[in-house]
Amino acid sequence: MNFKLNKPELLPFKKEEKVIKQSPSNIALIKYWGKKGNQIPANPSLSFTLSKSYTETEIIYYPKKDKGISIEFLFEGEKNEQFEQKIIIYLEKIIEFFPFLNKLRLKINSKNSFPHSTGIASSASSMSALALCLCEIEKKHYGTLQNKEDFLQKASFIARLGSGSAARSVFPYAATWGEFVENPASADEYASPLLFELHPVFKNYRDAILIVSNKTKKVSSTAGHALMPKHPFAKARFKQAKNNLKLLLSALKTGNQDTFIEIVENEALTLHALMMSSNPGYILMEPGTLQIIEKIRQYRQKTGIKLCFTLDAGPNVHLLYSINDSDKVEKFIGKELSAYCENNLWIKDEIKANT
Ligand code: DP6
Repeated sequence: MNFKLNKPELLPFKKEEKVIKQSPSNIALIKYWGKKGNQIPANPSLSFTLSKSYTETEIIYYPKKDKGISIEFLFEGEKNEQFEQKIIIYLEKIIEFFPFLNKLRLKINSKNSFPHSTGIASSASSMSALALCLCEIEKKHYGTLQNKEDFLQKASFIARLGSGSAARSVFPYAATWGEFVENPASADEYASPLLFELHPVFKNYRDAILIVSNKTKKVSSTAGHALMPKHPFAKARFKQAKNNLKLLLSALKTGNQDTFIEIVENEALTLHALMMSSNPGYILMEPGTLQIIEKIRQYRQKTGIKLCFTLDAGPNVHLLYSINDSDKVEKFIGKELSAYCENNLWIKDEIKANT
C-alpha cells in the first residue's frame, strides 16, 4: 500500500469540521526493545490491546491560507506547550503522508481515561488516537481509506512514526508488529492483526495494572531502545524474541496457559535484564515490583490458578488472568498486592475479544 496521499487539491469545505477517536493502550507480551533507522523494530513484538485505558482525541480543523503546520494543543482542556512542541515535530515528520496538514489549522484536544497519577505510559494510546484522527480527516475529505483494512494499516503506519508500540494499538484484542516468517503479511512498517481468533481461554483476559510508582521514569523507553544496537546480548535477544513469538502464537491458538505463562514472564524479566546489562546499565524495577512478582509466583504455586505477570519499561506490574478466575485473583490483589502499590492504586483492565 502507498501511504502517501497523492491528491493535492484543496479540501472541499470552508467551515470548521471535527473528528474524534478513541484508542487504547496495549501491553506487550513479546517486547519490542531495540530499533533501527526510522522506527524500524529490531525484533517482532506482540501485544494484547487493552480496553479501559484509552486516549480520546478530538481535532477541530479549518482551512488556512498560509503554508506550514499550525496547531493548538490542549490536554484535558488545558494548553500544554511541551506536548504541543512534540506534536509539531511529529506532524512535520508525517506531512509527506498528509499534505493537507499544510493547509489546515488544527485544534487538538486530548484526554485519557486513566488518572494522571498512574504513571501509565500513554504514548501508545495518544499517538494511535492522533494517527486515527488524521486518517479520518483524509477519509472524510479525499475519499481514500474507505476500506477498513487500508484505514487501519495507514493509521498503524503513522502511529509507529510517533511511537513504535502505538502501531499495535489500532487493532482490537491483539496485534503483532515487525516481520516474522510465520506471517507473510507481517511488516516492520505497520502492525497486523492476529491471523486467527484467540483460544476461548484467552478471550476477555484480564489485566490488573498494579501501580507500584507513578513517578516519571528515570530512563525513557526511547533512550532504552537507543542502547540496544551496542548491547552485548543484542543478537541473542533478537533471536530469542522471534522464537518466543512463535511459541506464544501457538499457545494463544491452542489455549496452552502454561506455555503462555512461561513465555510472558520470560519476556518481562528479559526486558529488565537487558536494561540492567546495557551500558550504562539501569534499574526501573522498585522493591515493590519484586515483592509483587514473588507473591504472584507463590500464589500460583499454592492455588494452581494460572495467573502471571508482565512488566512495561517501568516499575508497575501487569497481572494477567482469565475472566473465570477474576473473583479469586481480585481478592488476592486487594489482600496481598495492593499494599505495595502507590496509594493502594491498581487499575482493572481487560482484553475485549469481540470488538
Ligand atoms: C517496553 O514504543 O514507548 O513497552 O518507539 O521510542 O516511542 P518508542 O518506544 P515505545 O517502546 C515500548 C517498549 C516496551 C515494549 C513494547 O511495548 O513492545
